[in-house]
Amino acid sequence: MTISPRTTAYTTALPTMRFGMPVRHEARVDARDSVEIRFGNTRLETMRGSQLLFHHTELFREMETLWQLPGLLKNKFPQGVPVEIYAGSNGADALSMGILMRGVLGAQQAQRYPIITSDLMPDLFERSQQGIVGLLPNKAEGNPWEDLRTKWGTMRLYVRQRDGVDIGALSDCLDPQPIAPELYPEFRLKHSRHPRYKSQGNWWTSTSEYEQLYRLRPEVKAQLDRQIVFAPDPVDVIQALVHQAKPSATPRVIFLRNMIYMLSMPEMRQLTQALGENMASGSLLVLGATEQSNHLYDRDLFYSLLKDGGWRPHPDIDRVWVKE
Ligand SMILES: C[S@@+](CC[C@H](N)C(=O)[O-])C[C@H]1O[C@@H](n2cnc3c(N)ncnc32)[C@H](O)[C@@H]1O
Repeated sequence: MTISPRTTAYTTALPTMRFGMPVRHEARVDARDSVEIRFGNTRLETMRGSQLLFHHTELFREMETLWQLPGLLKNKFPQGVPVEIYAGSNGADALSMGILMRGVLGAQQAQRYPIITSDLMPDLFERSQQGIVGLLPNKAEGNPWEDLRTKWGTMRLYVRQRDGVDIGALSDCLDPQPIAPELYPEFRLKHSRHPRYKSQGNWWTSTSEYEQLYRLRPEVKAQLDRQIVFAPDPVDVIQALVHQAKPSATPRVIFLRNMIYMLSMPEMRQLTQALGENMASGSLLVLGATEQSNHLYDRDLFYSLLKDGGWRPHPDIDRVWVKE
């Protein structure tokens, strides 16, 4: 599907939920077109029509939900099911799922769960398509590899306990050797798009200048090339899931992580209504932390509309909803 983006959207890693606590956060973007961003109830007006200045999401973002998904998909859809990742940002959601599925299900089984990812700004997929991931440290001048390795270690432990599978070491998937900065142009990376940003608080000082780039192992990249489709054209969720949607007879798996707050109130209503009307029983909806936080201007309304459409929270997996 090809559409023109209706809006440009503002995206950022949201440090807000870092310690599990919603925190109002204000940041000033220090860039060519300096723009003040406000996260809070008024931020939507600020984001609408703003130029995309920086964009960040991360590998295994909200891993406490992600690590459980391959096992859930295997149990619910043993024959396989496409995984539709909307608002897929720089491709990190898709890579995370692909890597985890490979670890939990094995390379062959994982192919039963093709991943189709899209975004309003598909050029952001470029790095992921090249098998390159940017890692940010948890704090300024920290070691992004070590931070991810710690996260991976936790997931490895959980998966071993629950699924009885060893997902192996992080270094089996990603080459621990960072890509030398002088090679960056070779990868046509869009570092220039990442301005520095600093919070007014003192706990979020990590900026993209500390980003390090790593390569997927060639065998992992080869597998993900088969499993993941990065939609080349802009896909607007309202077009895809409301205006062009048809009722589906079979369950679907839909990711809409950390993007509902970018919709206007009428769009949010249209979307929840369409999700209620068009998704077959047994469908899964994967949401993000911002859908639970006060980034969402009317969280209670969002969840009550979802429930009106027959969606219920998964009993065990936070942020996953199941269509009755
Ligand atoms: C904060 S990022 C979240 C990315 C990723 N899902 C995650 O959880 O890290 C929000 C993404 O939503 C995309 N987006 C915003 N409005 C959209 C729309 N109407 N349709 C599709 N994507 C949209 C933005 O381009 C951005 O990549």
